Amino acid sequence: MRQPEFHRLQVELGQRAYPIRIAPGLLDRRDAFAGLRFPQHVLLVTDANVAPLYAERVRRILPGNHEAALLVLPAGEQHKTLAMCARIFSALADMQASRDAIVVALGGGVVGDMAGFAAACWMRGVRCLQIPTTLLAMVDSSVGGKTAVDLPQGKNLVGAFHQPCAVVVDTDLLATLPARELSAGLAEVVKYGALGDAAFFGWIEQHADALVAGDTAVLAQAVHRSCEHKARVVVADETEQGERALLNFGHTFGHALEAEAGYGELLHGEAVAIGMLLAARMSSELGLAPLLDVARLAALLERLRLPIAVPSAIARRLDPSALLARMRLDKKNLSGRLRLVLWRRIGHAFVAEDVDSHHVLELLTDALTDDGG
Ligand code: NAD
Ligand code: GLY
Repeated sequence: MRQPEFHRLQVELGQRAYPIRIAPGLLDRRDAFAGLRFPQHVLLVTDANVAPLYAERVRRILPGNHEAALLVLPAGEQHKTLAMCARIFSALADMQASRDAIVVALGGGVVGDMAGFAAACWMRGVRCLQIPTTLLAMVDSSVGGKTAVDLPQGKNLVGAFHQPCAVVVDTDLLATLPARELSAGLAEVVKYGALGDAAFFGWIEQHADALVAGDTAVLAQAVHRSCEHKARVVVADETEQGERALLNFGHTFGHALEAEAGYGELLHGEAVAIGMLLAARMSSELGLAPLLDVARLAALLERLRLPIAVPSAIARRLDPSALLARMRLDKKNLSGRLRLVLWRRIGHAFVAEDVDSHHVLELLTDALTDDGG
């Protein structure tokens, strides 16, 4: 029987172009992997939460004559480390993986970023197939080729641009995702609307209740529209010389909060939600963005069950100067100047050069003394 069509997008990067295939039930379909070569050496990397749910199913469906070797890493941001990457290298060495090997990343952004980075490094680069299992990974991290691990000093400081050979998104996998993780993924969905697409922002407002309730049809639409957005930006600016920096709206604040709170305390998407609001507030204080839009952003994040302030238990032990020091290590900065993605209104972000660090420090001090609950 002919299978129903799935959503197909193509990230048009010349010889490194790749498909994004999106549909419920895709992991039961061989045609999800059409056009990909599966050689002798296939390493399936996943984490301890995802492995019991989906690893065997993926091993069964992957085409090719050789069963994939399986590497299960501990789950969570605190494990997005060079040490875990070394475990991926060891697994590749143990199977004597050659240059035509393929690393399959099955998991959220943590697995995807690490497995992608290991693939970028192994023998100077082998293919990586991304099979995202969180909403965040489906809408953002699996697409675009940013791969990295964290250091104690900061997020994603060691990494490489290494595009995947394909992205296969089975939206049914969201059914097992904890509600808090679903909300964290919705923060990145809001990001696309907030930074560059006011109509999409309005769509998210209209569908906020269905999105948090996990309505699969509405989530699939959100995934599709987000991937379209991301693919367009990545094609325009693969290595972040310009427009791609906008995808970091909220992230300079967010990354600093994530690292300073201790990896895993605030989820990445939660830190991004707080960070977007801080960037929006700063823009409004500078007279750049209307306060009404800041309030609209806060209201939407709240409806999506995201934090809109640093939770007080975390705020109490954070130091604004330490956060600012972390922001100084952000990858967008140039020659020691602080660069931030700021806001003109819903649907319009821009990169602000040489931001006043005193203003940022004041904002952070306020953010840590406001009662975040
Ligand atoms: P994650 O990978 O830690 O996954 C969240 C949790 O959900 C984990 O405990 C995981 O085991 C569990 N899980 C995953 N899929 C599941 C499923 N289907 N059912 C049940 N449980 C499941 O976190 P994340 O939010 O997916 O990713 C965050 C990471 O992504 C951060 O490190 C961030 O820096 C990175 N990121 C990268 C990019 C990029 O462009 N490369 C973009 C955004 C975020
Ligand atoms: N998540 C930001 C980027 O891919 O550029």
